[in-house]
Amino acid sequence: MGIEKATDAVVLVGGKGTRLRPLTMSAPKPMLPTAGHPFLEHLLARIRAAGIEHVILSTSYKAEVFEEYFGDGSGIGLDIEYVTEDQPLGTGGGIRNVESALRGDHVMVFNGDVLTGADLGAILDTHVEKEADVTLHLVRVSDPRAYGSVPTDADGRVTAFLEKTQDPPTDQINAGCYVFTRAALEKIPTGRPVSVEREVFPSLLTDGSRVFGYVDHTYWRDMGTPEDFVRGSADLVRGIAPSPLLEGERGEALVHPSAGIGGGALLIGGTVVGRGAVIGAGARLDGAVVFDGAQIEAGATVERSIVGFGVRIGPRALVRDGVIGDGADIGARCELLRGARVWPGVALPDGGVRFSTDV
Ligand code: GTP
Repeated sequence: MGIEKATDAVVLVGGKGTRLRPLTMSAPKPMLPTAGHPFLEHLLARIRAAGIEHVILSTSYKAEVFEEYFGDGSGIGLDIEYVTEDQPLGTGGGIRNVESALRGDHVMVFNGDVLTGADLGAILDTHVEKEADVTLHLVRVSDPRAYGSVPTDADGRVTAFLEKTQDPPTDQINAGCYVFTRAALEKIPTGRPVSVEREVFPSLLTDGSRVFGYVDHTYWRDMGTPEDFVRGSADLVRGIAPSPLLEGERGEALVHPSAGIGGGALLIGGTVVGRGAVIGAGARLDGAVVFDGAQIEAGATVERSIVGFGVRIGPRALVRDGVIGDGADIGARCELLRGARVWPGVALPDGGVRFSTDV
């Protein structure tokens, strides 16, 4: 079996990405730079490697950014179409809305912010073997409480959908990749926002549809929060997370050839340094995601943090578990810790934010 050329892929990329603000105020989440490429490019390369050529991007928020970058997809061996919602229709509405662009009888749907090594051909094979209406990729995680938990019976048939419960009955969670037959997709209501997780899946269970799970414990991460974005990016750089785009490029750090690195700077933990960025002498970057054009001055430390486009981090400043919005200017010796988020363009004076009392 495996994937037929006629299978369509739909990638949901219309969300506002509020949990990753302020970075998502200038770029949609799937276009944020991740290990040297927009995140979505890693996913599209995986779809292409699995043998699917026709991809529909279901867009809404900042829709134009996707088309400007990927065009008709021919540059990456794909045939990409765009279907845009003027008003966001939610994850279910976004799937329903692409119906007129579908060419095949079943469609693989992807959340545009999931990093995984799942075997797409095997998910589709399960769908065909089980004669399912919908098949979900389910992944086993150590702490399922923050996700949608999806129990299955001995035959793999889904028995319930439980969104974010404190006492999940199984460690299998909804991994954000589904196969829909066209008939199942047509059951999704039109003309209003619909959540696939909260409305479509529960109603398919109650109407007796055949909903199956394909379970694995491959690499999986939802990149929706700063912590996960930083971890996922570092895992890509270090070769822990799979991507067809990065074969042979893995290591402790990924530095764009146009970036400048000062003497004695230490770049470890899956750090990424973008185009034209400048890292000062003796700076220490551990699991840092440094976007294009940022400048990190001498002796500064950046750990597990995202540094936006054109940011300046002053000498001996410390950023740990932070998000620095585009164009912000962090003065010398400032300390930004534990989830601090600096909004785009904000300037902090030298020594202006401290967690310690040293001068
Ligand atoms: P948060 O605001 O941080 O929750 O992020 P989000 O808006 O991306 O929402 P979420 O992570 O739940 O979305 C999962 C996937 O669905 C992402 O790839 C989103 O881009 C996509 N998505 C969310 N809402 C919509 C929508 O209304 N329309 C479309 N087409 N896609 C959506």
